Amino acid sequence: MVSEELFKNLVAHAKEYGFIFPSSEIYDGLSAVYDYGQMGVELKNNIKSYWWNAMVRLHDNIVGIDSAIFMHPRIWEASGHVGAFNDPLIDNRDSKKRYRADVLLEEHIAKIEEKITKEVEKGRKKFGEAFDEAQFRATNPNVLRNAAKSAEITARMNAALNANDLGALKQLILDCEIACPISGSRNWTDVRQFNLMFSTQLGSVSDEANVIYLRPETAQGIFVNFLNVQKTGRMKIPFGIAQIGKAFRNEIVARQFIFRMREFEQMEMQFFVRPGEEMKWYEYWKNERLRWHQSLGLGKEKYRFHNHEKLAHYANAAADIEFDFPFGFKELEGIHSRTDFDLRRHQEFSGRKQQYFDPETNENYVPYVIETSIGLDRTFLAILSAAYSEEQLENGEERAVLRIPPVLAPVKAAVLPLVKKDGLPEKAREILQTLRFDFHCQYDEKDSIGKRYRRQDAIGTPFCITIDHQTLEDNQVTLRYRDTMQQDRLPVAGIHALLVQSLKVMGEG
Ligand code: GAP
Repeated sequence: MVSEELFKNLVAHAKEYGFIFPSSEIYDGLSAVYDYGQMGVELKNNIKSYWWNAMVRLHDNIVGIDSAIFMHPRIWEASGHVGAFNDPLIDNRDSKKRYRADVLLEEHIAKIEEKITKEVEKGRKKFGEAFDEAQFRATNPNVLRNAAKSAEITARMNAALNANDLGALKQLILDCEIACPISGSRNWTDVRQFNLMFSTQLGSVSDEANVIYLRPETAQGIFVNFLNVQKTGRMKIPFGIAQIGKAFRNEIVARQFIFRMREFEQMEMQFFVRPGEEMKWYEYWKNERLRWHQSLGLGKEKYRFHNHEKLAHYANAAADIEFDFPFGFKELEGIHSRTDFDLRRHQEFSGRKQQYFDPETNENYVPYVIETSIGLDRTFLAILSAAYSEEQLENGEERAVLRIPPVLAPVKAAVLPLVKKDGLPEKAREILQTLRFDFHCQYDEKDSIGKRYRRQDAIGTPFCITIDHQTLEDNQVTLRYRDTMQQDRLPVAGIHALLVQSLKVMGEG
């Protein structure tokens, strides 16, 4: 099945089994806003814990906070968001559709890259065993022409974005002869900047002075609490502050399900270091974060780094960890060396010193910062899309299964009496009672055992525990594994330990 079709099925599956619902659905939905259902909230909470434990519990020098969404509006002036948190937009006059100019260009570049890939595949078929891909790429005239075209457009786009040259962006769109996908015309307006922050009014008086913003990132809540945490926690540099929370952006290109939302959650950590040591820590956190992703066991080949050429206004180095989503490799997490930009600006705008006295060097300085910033919803989507599979079974039946890493699975075990009589439900509930305080379990006695297994596969439950008549005699249950569908007999007394052990195992670490 092509990945586009599989992705459509995944979106339908996520709704059918209570993972994700379109927001305000009975009012026809609200674009790029989603609700998490009864299974979704469990998976989301498990991802949060997995991140929080890795960042806060496993590091002596990282602590967490939970700052407010509303903050003083000057914060967003200091951070540069009021002036520079913009997307370059362009409208097509015929379809009246609005696009991000850089996304139009990126999609155009992706099409050229696709042509190169097709040409290489043609070569591979033609030359068979003798095919030398590197040589083919270096010599084939079609590949060379398209590679040069792609490089030239990329370079022009980056130069225009870096220089904030909106005229040059428009000219590039015209030169590339990019047409509107809806109207098919090239009747474009000029490119304009559009600020992505949502604003609202504080209190009852509606005037300019009361305008406040819904935070577009959680990071600033950490920066403005830097000294509070450092002093009250007696933190010594290097140290980190972590936070999980909602962020809001008025995204223009909002699509691909929960990949790009207007209301989403971030898991961010700001790591404060001595000036001059930031590159060492930048490399350190790049590797640490990649290791965290790989520990989930979704496959190492699903991740890659993308080093930024166009740097945000606050960064002196930045990289994305990209994930191979059903629609291609896309950003999942950003690791940014933010210099002392944020603290220095808050020092300037608030008039309060944001400095650290280093007892080892006897110096006062504004610390440098390495940031790790991962989207919770995107991580959810990465896990769901890697976990979802539709399988043909030996008996001719089909199953849809979510191979969610056991540690993150919404339900860890299902407790299933084979039949609804003969004392089996009572025995099953007795077993459930020994597990439910430590693991999220489900009890299910409706329908055939086969149907119940399918339901648990569909929500990603790694273990099913079946209680049959034999259980009443030998106190053993049937343990069924989601991934292999293999079944083992196991003493009741061993179930708890087995679950503890299985939920500890974390992928390829
Ligand atoms: N504090 C830095 C910062 O916010 P970012 O690259 O703009 O950096 C960090 O965002 C992460 O937040 C992204 O890698 C992505 O996973 C997630 N993210 C950003 N915008 C998002 C959106 N509209 N919907 C869902 N996730 C988003």
